[in-house]
Amino acid sequence: MNNNITYNKETSCFYLETSNTLYIIKLVRNKYFAQLYYGEKTTFVDEYKPRPLAFASYLDDGEEKIYFETMMAEYPSFGSGDFWADAIRLRNYKGNCVTDFEYNNYEIINGRINIHNLPCANVDNKTQTLVLTLKDNVLNCTLKLCYTVFYDTDIISRHVVLINNGNEDVIIENIKSLNLDIPNNDYDIVTLNGAHYFERTIRRSSLNYGKQVLYSARGTSSHHTNPFVAICDNSADYTKGNVYGFNFIYSGSFENIVEKTSVDKIRIQIGVNGAVEGQVLQGGVEYYTPEAVMTYTNKGLGQMSRNFHSFIKKHIIPLSFNHRHPIVLNTWEAFYFDIDEKKLLKLADVAVDLGIETLVVDDGWFSVRNSDNAGLGDWWVNNDKFPSGLKMFSNKIAKKGLSLGIWIEPEMINPNSELFKKHPEWCLKAYGRKELLSRNQHVLNIALPEVLTYLKETFFQTFKDVKFNYIKWDMNRSLSAVGNNFNGEKLIDNAIARKYIENMYNLHDWFLQTFPGIMIEGCSGGGGRYDMAMMRYTSQIWTSDNTFPADRARIQHGSLLAYPACVMSCHVSNPEESLKKPEEYDYRYKIALQGVLGYEMDLLTLNRENFDCIKKQISEYKRIRDFAVLGNYYPLFAKNETYVHYYHLENIDSFIIHYATQKQVGEKITISIPQASDNDSYIDRKNNKVYKGINIKEGIELTFDKKADYIIIEKQI
Ligand code: DGJ
Repeated sequence: MNNNITYNKETSCFYLETSNTLYIIKLVRNKYFAQLYYGEKTTFVDEYKPRPLAFASYLDDGEEKIYFETMMAEYPSFGSGDFWADAIRLRNYKGNCVTDFEYNNYEIINGRINIHNLPCANVDNKTQTLVLTLKDNVLNCTLKLCYTVFYDTDIISRHVVLINNGNEDVIIENIKSLNLDIPNNDYDIVTLNGAHYFERTIRRSSLNYGKQVLYSARGTSSHHTNPFVAICDNSADYTKGNVYGFNFIYSGSFENIVEKTSVDKIRIQIGVNGAVEGQVLQGGVEYYTPEAVMTYTNKGLGQMSRNFHSFIKKHIIPLSFNHRHPIVLNTWEAFYFDIDEKKLLKLADVAVDLGIETLVVDDGWFSVRNSDNAGLGDWWVNNDKFPSGLKMFSNKIAKKGLSLGIWIEPEMINPNSELFKKHPEWCLKAYGRKELLSRNQHVLNIALPEVLTYLKETFFQTFKDVKFNYIKWDMNRSLSAVGNNFNGEKLIDNAIARKYIENMYNLHDWFLQTFPGIMIEGCSGGGGRYDMAMMRYTSQIWTSDNTFPADRARIQHGSLLAYPACVMSCHVSNPEESLKKPEEYDYRYKIALQGVLGYEMDLLTLNRENFDCIKKQISEYKRIRDFAVLGNYYPLFAKNETYVHYYHLENIDSFIIHYATQKQVGEKITISIPQASDNDSYIDRKNNKVYKGINIKEGIELTFDKKADYIIIEKQI
């Protein structure tokens, strides 16, 4: 048994330790939980002290009074004396909604408690879980607060399980996965906001009094607000300062709250969006929240990113995917719906010549899909476009030495489709409400088991003999008017939102099990589902539909704050006619090689010069791919649309430094790399310079004379 979680009877405290952090929970009067400490490892922590306050409600039971309003709460309940954001609010059949849980018992287990029907992080042999069990005797409910410690990555995850022990329904109005109270300080809040085409732009501002609510009500984690959030010292930068980082292993609507109170505490909460996903919990039934994660470091935002990256690589992405990141040619930006077997076979020949590894046939291969107006739901091949069928086509592609990838969008249905004619009631729409379209499509109600079965059977028939090992899974609209499209009571409206997400994961899992060896690239109109839960199934995600390199540099920089380079699909797309020159392809490539490289262009029209340029890029990328896939990320500089970072490959002690700017080129930058070992020599082959490790540590001056470039500093053996 590891000792990463312990309970000390004398101090009535639970101690949760990771490699560099300590988290302490105090059991007060054997009933309530106070958050005592979260930070770097220390042996000295202030004792719990009740703090009286005018207007505070207090418990006076003959012993020292308890002031809930000023206590650092572990998991505050609605209406029970803590006037700040509640983590849980339940309503019973009589309408009572004061919620008040008290401690009952605890358990420390090796490994973890899995979450029903939802993805959660993988364990290793150091993983342990603390389960605190609480009871509310009025509501007749049990609550389990679960804390899982991922020792090496400095991550602690949290989720809760609610059990209705009675016979009557209990309504869950709010239930967060994580609540953390920390002492007030001069903190900034850092978030990833954006829109379609402008995903994950880093926003940083000083934290103000009141609640800041970051949320999605779209049924997806969304382009607009990513579930990631961090709180950091106002003086923190990439290399120094206290940072608390949070994220959510969930792809549905969420509501993350950061509240700066007037009683010297800051409250952070991560959880589902109760307004969209509130539930009726029947007697005897258990409800599981998704898993939320938190990390702390005093080494700045860069270390926070590395903690999340190594957690995702080690505990989220299925291990079997970790090293497979093919260079793809995707048909979308070159041809849109205008694809057919003849053209693709010609394209495949050029792709092979260039060294491309996988041909991804994007939208347009099925049914009558010649525009975005028709076909979704009818998942059989279009025989006019592929006269010999998908199986034969895939054999021909395989013969050329290329792997095949295929685009799908299983969660959607066009009104103009066979499926809609047969099953209009399968659209996701609340009964009696107006039908809302987006990109000419409805969402399929995959919460219904019969819809899930239809999809599995249809895809199985279509793909069962096809040689392919890559799926691009798209999702091109948000969920609106979510509910039952019939006047029955199969599932109440809110429960559908959750069931939808559960079945969406179920379908991903089915693909992975049914077509062994397959990898899935996630996509939602670019990066609308760029979240940790998707990364359990989709080892890569299409970062954004925006492939304009200057914008891409910003989007990728934002994405790297919370997610590793190995999930970031980065494609070189065709520039407009006048820009089709090696310099422009070079610019696009230098931005794309920060992640997993691919191409989206008509290779058949490349002139010799551009062809040679791309061929060189691909053979070069194959030599340096490991930096993006396995390297550790160190951001150095990001200001005025100039971004500099490096990846460090520990096994060969080498570095790749990336530079991207929109300013004048020819910039000199001093870069110091603390990982270089003093007495070793390193070589920069591009500039033909040899450095001693100690010099690299102290800082070397590099000149970047292009809008984007990279320099490799290799250890000399
Ligand atoms: C949106 C995606 O982001 C694109 O890459 C492409 O796959 C289209 N959908 C296809 O409809």
